Amino acid sequence: MANRVEGKVAIVTGAASGIGRGCAEMLAREGARVFLTDRDPRVVDVGAALGAPHEGLVLDVTDEAGWQRVVDDVVARAGKLDILVNSAGIGVLGDIEHATLKEFRLMYAVNVEGVFLGCRAAVGAMKQTGGGSIVNISSVAGLVADPNLAGYCASKGAVRMLTKSIAMHGARKSVNVRCNSVHPSFIDTPMVAGMAEAMGGTDGAHEKLAKAAPMGRLGRVEEVAYLVLYLASDESSFTTGAEMVVDGGLTAR
Ligand SMILES: NC(=O)c1ccc[n+]([C@@H]2O[C@H](COP(=O)([O-])OP(=O)(O)OC[C@H]3O[C@@H](n4cnc5c(N)ncnc54)[C@H](O)[C@@H]3O)[C@@H](O)[C@H]2O)c1
Repeated sequence: MANRVEGKVAIVTGAASGIGRGCAEMLAREGARVFLTDRDPRVVDVGAALGAPHEGLVLDVTDEAGWQRVVDDVVARAGKLDILVNSAGIGVLGDIEHATLKEFRLMYAVNVEGVFLGCRAAVGAMKQTGGGSIVNISSVAGLVADPNLAGYCASKGAVRMLTKSIAMHGARKSVNVRCNSVHPSFIDTPMVAGMAEAMGGTDGAHEKLAKAAPMGRLGRVEEVAYLVLYLASDESSFTTGAEMVVDGGLTAR
């Protein structure tokens, strides 16, 4: 099926790389006008490669004023905001004995506060322009624990419950914003390549990450993007506050 989000206007964070980039490309292919954002200026090139009317904008998701500027700018130029995909995120390995407070706070600032700021700015705009759909990229680490991801698990668990609270608020007719979280296991992106490096960069490290899922392989960005597309589109019009896995069976054990 094509044009599953025809005529919709979307913002995607973390769109210079990995899952965010894949989601932006998928939404654009299916008919949305996409504003790609990232703190990495390469997002401008990724947006340019998609071609007009798509566009890449530099935004650090921890920048409160920056968020409002971007949302106001999108509504001024495109007339509305229908979709927000919060994919920007960082992951630092560390168990509770070795994780540092600095890394914990950094993950919280990007993974939780960034999502909070984005949702808040988007709900305000969506409410004025007929409603919308927000998709927050959490992780299986927000559902099941990993001893070596103390801060990351905490941040992704927070995204799960933040999403549900927004969904409750958005269910009011006067707001009309759906909000769902997506929980991938290890997906083949630069973030996971970085984790494999931090684990020694050996074949064994790659194998360990691939074998985490019963299906025995890493997920592909496109496999996450299809779920995000469904949640962003009107096909999922009765789905809100849901936590959806795309994890090769990891959480089914
Ligand atoms: N790859 C996986 O296995 C996996 C699994 C579960 C969840 N996730 C989540 O999916 C999301 C995307 O991860 P990915 O694998 O595509 O990672 P990635 O590193 O490939 O991409 C993340 C993007 O976020 C951007 N970013 C980081 N901090 C930012 C900030 N402060 N402001 C704006 N942009 C910022 C980076 O510049 C980068 O372009 C993250 O939230 C991650 O936690 C990833």
